[in-house]
Amino acid sequence: MTIDWSPARYGYKTIAIHWITVPLIIAVFATMELKPYTAKGGELRETLMFWHYLLGLAVLAAVWFRVAARRMESAPPDLGGPTWKRAMAALTHRFLYVLMFIMPVLGWLALNAKGQGVHIAGLDLPMLVEKNESLARLLKQWHQALANAGYVALALHVLAVLYHQFVARDRTLLRMMPASAE
Ligand code: HEM
Ligand code: HEM
Repeated sequence: MTIDWSPARYGYKTIAIHWITVPLIIAVFATMELKPYTAKGGELRETLMFWHYLLGLAVLAAVWFRVAARRMESAPPDLGGPTWKRAMAALTHRFLYVLMFIMPVLGWLALNAKGQGVHIAGLDLPMLVEKNESLARLLKQWHQALANAGYVALALHVLAVLYHQFVARDRTLLRMMPASAE
């Protein structure tokens, strides 16, 4: 089977990294949504936190590949539509990039400011800041606030895509799928 990576869609690297990031981000949010249902200090809570840190850092790693992919592959031509809609889409996409870059760093900083290191797969990640309780509280608040804004941006993003797919019936979703999906 030949796959047609025609210019009417995003490049295959961009498509691959987009869909790899989706389950990662869902899992990062899910670990935190599930946390309140676990016992304080319990093993399950520790496991959820571990996966939160690990998958959050995987998002940070993936976003660099994403930027590289977007630089190597140009975006497909604009599908048209009102300027405000195109501006909203561009703004949402930019904010999602901010989320993918800033959230993991804020989380890492917040842990370090609390005096906790990040230990992943036998690696001790560098301490970015010294222990400072008030800074830790502030960083945690920013991490929480940005996570809430992230929920809104992701909801807008997904609703816009569903609108395009099922109401406007244009190629928006197909542009982010390999040609074999058509
Ligand atoms: C895309 C990446 C990330 C997202 C979307 C994300 C999202 C979240 C969310 C939704 C919460 C719960 C906020 C609340 O209580 O309302 C949270 C808490 C937290 N996150 Fe992240 N996070 C990310 C990456 C990270 C990373 C990489 C670390 C650390 C290495 C981290 C450390 C923390 C910490 C320490 C908390 C506070 C947990 C507590 O309640 O004690 N996060 N994060
Ligand atoms: C969960 C985390 C998600 C993130 C962080 C995210 C991020 C992005 C970003 C930044 C873009 C702009 C293209 C780029 O630079 O890569 C984009 C485009 C796109 N995303 Fe997502 N996305 C997510 C989830 C989803 C989901 C669940 C869907 C499907 C319902 C979806 C469908 C699309 C489509 C169709 C485009 C192309 C839009 C266009 O051509 O204007 N995304 N996404």
